[in-house]
Amino acid sequence: MPTSAPIAIIPQPRNIQPGDGVFVLTPETRLEFGDGAEGERVSRYFIDLVQQTYGVGLGAGGNAPGKNVIRFDLTAGESAAGVEGYSLVSSPRRIVVSAADSRGLFYGAVTLWQLLSRYEEGFVVPVVTIEDWPKFGWRGLMLDSARHYQPPQFIRKFIDVMALHKLNVLHWHLTDDQAWRLEIKKYPRLTEIGAWRVPAGQAPAADIDPAAGKPRLYGGFYSQENVRDIVAYAMSRGITVVPEIDMPGHASAAIAAYPELGVLEKPSAQVPADWGIYPNLFNAEESTFRFLEDVLDEVVSLFPSQYIHVGGDEAVKDQWKASKRIQTRIRELGVKDEHELQSYFVRRLETFLASKQRRLIGWDEILEGGLAPNATVMSWRGLKGAVAAASAGHDTVLSPWPTLYFDNRPYDVASPPGRGRIVSVEEVYAFDPAPAAIEEAQRKHILGVQANVWVEHIRTPDRVEFMTFPKAAALAEVAWSPAKDWAGFSARLPAQLERYKALNVRYAEAPPARALDPRRRNSHELALCSDKIPLSLEDDAPIAGERAVFLVDVMQPCWLFKEADLSGIDSLVASVGQVPFNYQIGDDVKQIVLRKPATASGELEVRVDGCAGERIAVLPLAPAVDNFAVSELPSVPFEPREGKHDLCFMFTQKQLDPIWVIDSIELRSGASARPE
Ligand code: ACM
Repeated sequence: MPTSAPIAIIPQPRNIQPGDGVFVLTPETRLEFGDGAEGERVSRYFIDLVQQTYGVGLGAGGNAPGKNVIRFDLTAGESAAGVEGYSLVSSPRRIVVSAADSRGLFYGAVTLWQLLSRYEEGFVVPVVTIEDWPKFGWRGLMLDSARHYQPPQFIRKFIDVMALHKLNVLHWHLTDDQAWRLEIKKYPRLTEIGAWRVPAGQAPAADIDPAAGKPRLYGGFYSQENVRDIVAYAMSRGITVVPEIDMPGHASAAIAAYPELGVLEKPSAQVPADWGIYPNLFNAEESTFRFLEDVLDEVVSLFPSQYIHVGGDEAVKDQWKASKRIQTRIRELGVKDEHELQSYFVRRLETFLASKQRRLIGWDEILEGGLAPNATVMSWRGLKGAVAAASAGHDTVLSPWPTLYFDNRPYDVASPPGRGRIVSVEEVYAFDPAPAAIEEAQRKHILGVQANVWVEHIRTPDRVEFMTFPKAAALAEVAWSPAKDWAGFSARLPAQLERYKALNVRYAEAPPARALDPRRRNSHELALCSDKIPLSLEDDAPIAGERAVFLVDVMQPCWLFKEADLSGIDSLVASVGQVPFNYQIGDDVKQIVLRKPATASGELEVRVDGCAGERIAVLPLAPAVDNFAVSELPSVPFEPREGKHDLCFMFTQKQLDPIWVIDSIELRSGASARPE
């Protein structure tokens, strides 16, 4: 029998005292629970978890006394650990988990599961005494289910895995420009129309649904039955689901379903498929407020959370400024300008939510034009919103871009796609949840921290997992543990990765560094010509099957093969793709420079010694135009030259859409010897 076993708990418990020896888990191990349903419920959860992850069956013995026992006790008022806290005491013959509330007892079970380690044919638990409770009450992940729909089974799995990190808030982003995902009984078109779109690009446009004779629609929605099930499931794992209904911006899908909600005379009847920031806002008619209140009425009946998130982000005011009717409403309502109109909007909804005993939370833009009296601010544009909110006596949740935006890639890989910026697990871990920017006296207003999984570039549930884990483990420790210790966390992380495997959860693990091939580079291995933050962007084709992923700055698509050794090189092969220009970027679009083509379909130009250097090859795009996926362009010979040179690759094209992109470049020798 081993005299000790590893301890690798994430998030790290507050107090932990290792002892000598181990408890051996056997098929004879019995689970006991004190009186009351919670002890039994948590015992059964633990039994299922151990069975599911390790294939070990344990018996639930009720209150039968015996040796080799694990006991779960809800000890009303007796635990030192308080809300969500627990204590766990293991000896060679007995393990006792106790807590004053059911969430704490649940977390005790999670910790116990993390204490299991393999020994020969079975499992052991080290002798240890743990007292544990969280630093923050809001330990959140936001999941965007609007840009891409994830099925309800996935939401349940996500909740399961969140709970195993002791994360306790799932902020569920359910509505946006590109979809409305929540069934609202009073307004069925929100999901009949609003949950479906034709994705951007040529490939989806050509993917005709034979039944409809039109491009196939993509999407899905959550029925109220789905939502009730998910909310109850989350609750059983200590997780509160906070729904977000985004307003007054990010509203295009709702307006496509009910045009009378919008500002424009004739808004688009189709749910749009661009990323970025659409100018479409809700109008300020009384009928629109009634609509929003009706929606929130159903929302509060579905979600028991104290907080309801009303978005508020990125509501560009151009449509409100340009609308005579909105200007009239501004005067009627006695507000000063469009910012105050948004503030009026939020105040009105706050009053409505307060009448339902709920509290309003919104993105930090709700500060503009004056914050509603009891609003809580989710600070995403850095910490400024949190500082302003806390110093005005409002509560705040820290969720700043880019560190806590999990759509930023964990390291530089070609796949899966994501935002091109690299944010490492270590950077997430280093996030300071008690920043000096917020005065110590005001830090009591920090409810906690949250990371956001925006999914514009995360199309599938597998990829959501990959982008979320193990960053969520770092987030969990920031949110739960009072002290941080990167070296300790890194030492515990391999055990966490093993748990992901046991749970069948995808996670990111940096691949070993690889030397660059001197002759062949994919877009992720080439350098970009700009220092702007790129996208690691998935192709829109083929519709079914694997798609290429390109690293590209869509504002300046231009790549460099740095220090290419051109000695003996006399041709190159370029593989290129075309992706939709589907970005709502307002006036910034004027910054994009289109380079004039010599032929109707455009060309790929290759220059030497930088992008202003001599043009050594021109590859016509005509052969690739009709292939929406990656094409290899016919190679073009050029004069060899000695030594290392930077090669620059740029396209010429007449129009913004589609954008031509490099997939890979291969340098070749002996072109003149090879038959064409
Ligand atoms: C946000 O990223 N628009 C909150």
